[in-house]
Amino acid sequence: MTEKVLKTVCAGVGFVGGAAHVPSFRKVPNSQLYGLLARKGRESEAYALKLKEKLAKKENRDLKIYYDWGDVCNDPEVDAVCVATPTPFHYPMGKQALEGGKHVYLEMPIAPKLKDAEELGKLAEKKGVVLMPILNFRTCPGYVKAKELLDSGAIGKPIAITFREFIAAEDLADQWPLSGWAWDIEKAGGYPDYTLSVWSLDMLQWFFNSPIENVEWTANYMPIEGINDFKGYQTVGIMKFANGVVGTTMVGSTVAKGLDLSRFEIFGNNGKTILVDWIPSKNREVFDVTLFGKNGDDQNWQVEGPGPMIWGHKQMIAHFVQACLGNEKPGYDYKAAIAAQKWSNKIVTDLM
Ligand SMILES: NC(=O)c1ccc[n+]([C@@H]2O[C@H](COP(=O)([O-])OP(=O)(O)OC[C@H]3O[C@@H](n4cnc5c(N)ncnc54)[C@H](O)[C@@H]3O)[C@@H](O)[C@H]2O)c1
Repeated sequence: MTEKVLKTVCAGVGFVGGAAHVPSFRKVPNSQLYGLLARKGRESEAYALKLKEKLAKKENRDLKIYYDWGDVCNDPEVDAVCVATPTPFHYPMGKQALEGGKHVYLEMPIAPKLKDAEELGKLAEKKGVVLMPILNFRTCPGYVKAKELLDSGAIGKPIAITFREFIAAEDLADQWPLSGWAWDIEKAGGYPDYTLSVWSLDMLQWFFNSPIENVEWTANYMPIEGINDFKGYQTVGIMKFANGVVGTTMVGSTVAKGLDLSRFEIFGNNGKTILVDWIPSKNREVFDVTLFGKNGDDQNWQVEGPGPMIWGHKQMIAHFVQACLGNEKPGYDYKAAIAAQKWSNKIVTDLM
């Protein structure tokens, strides 16, 4: 008996789509990267033509290139789509794909307006297809290891957390310049601090299996010397979860190269602490997880994630494929995305 295979078309082959989603849909079990969406004369076309040639040579197979999203959504050969275009295109492209009966793997934030995200979720339910928002911090090896420790009682009951995600301004300025969609509140829902907060807010609620009760935000935005078409930001949230845990979160892009990192600390009532570090200047394919004990009896794990596994992308795509084929129950849906986005939205409304 031949195994079932999910045929997927990817749209958006930039920072995250090109580096994480396309390679993962090529490699995970029961998945066929069936095609790519390209725009004539743009980078996406060059990317698609190059990959088509590579697959023909290396795997002796075709990759279909589409120039019109409607053609993708109406093609009966296509089972699923991955939408990793800029945020303002998520809602219209997601809607068209769902209407065409496709499973949708959709980048975050789902849509700048929560009512549009809700509408997509309801449409997916009506059509009986999977709509999976890409909440990949849940499958990120460092956070998965920390959750294992938490759930095993290693720190007793959690009391408090700190979370921070610092990106060097010079890196983010290339990806999301001030003149682009990522700084347009109408198009993106907020500034980059808003966009980048959605994954950690979702991860924290999943981590504690407890919703956030409240977050209060404050921020400072400022041009950075020597970096054009960009503003640095440091945005700080103080939060409380329904289970009583309190914490702070900080998303920033004012740090110098070398201090760009993600750091997550969880303090327990047995006097122990879990520290999860991702420090790209040391090793971008490793999370450093430490359980600090009371008498220096620390334990450390170097949790590896090659390529798109380090931020959980390949693992999540493997789950999406199995969920679409009916082999796994989808671990979460649009409601989880909305539960995170509603607190990210407060960055915008708190500061207005
Ligand atoms: N899950 C994650 O880890 C993660 C990380 C970064 C970004 N994101 C999200 O992914 C999305 C894309 O971000 P990015 O940084 O990769 O953006 P990007 O600008 O690097 O890439 C966008 C891609 O979409 C294509 N595109 C742009 N307009 C299009 C259109 N009208 N039709 C078809 N294709 C179009 C571009 O050619 C490019 O390939 C955003 O919503 C962002 O929030 C997710």
